[in-house]
Amino acid sequence: MKILIINGPNLNLLGKRENDIYGELTLDEINLKIKEAFKDCSIELDFYQSNHEGEIITKIQNANCEFHAVIINPAAYSHYSIGILDAIKAINIDVIEVHLSNIYAREQYRRTSVISEGCTGVISGLGYYGYIMAINALINKNII
Ligand code: DQA
Repeated sequence: MKILIINGPNLNLLGKRENDIYGELTLDEINLKIKEAFKDCSIELDFYQSNHEGEIITKIQNANCEFHAVIINPAAYSHYSIGILDAIKAINIDVIEVHLSNIYAREQYRRTSVISEGCTGVISGLGYYGYIMAINALINKNII
């Protein structure tokens, strides 16, 4: 059971980026908490972050053969990347979209995710716990 967790642009700056919105934890600390939460489960977690749309698209394409599911926080790309949406639609495994903040309670331009259309589910506004919920959903829905 292998799950790929992808984080998009600027999420490498977590912990020192708009802490009032995204919290104090760095991406490494979040990833550690996720690993810790599932340390007794027989699932393999792989973490990937990129600030580049094309790299994220390639990673999604390749995930099809390598992973049972993908969890993605596409960050700003959520709001306009049809390329990432198309990559998600092109693969056969489940993809869950996660946002740390509640994008529906923020600026108008953040309230639409063009990615969601291709995803099995969306979790928004629950901080890093959203990633944990997404993994639990995959396990409990027998998706993986
Ligand atoms: C985000 C929300 C996006 O609007 C923003 O561009 C991000 C992070 C979130 O996790 O809340 O970079 O995806």
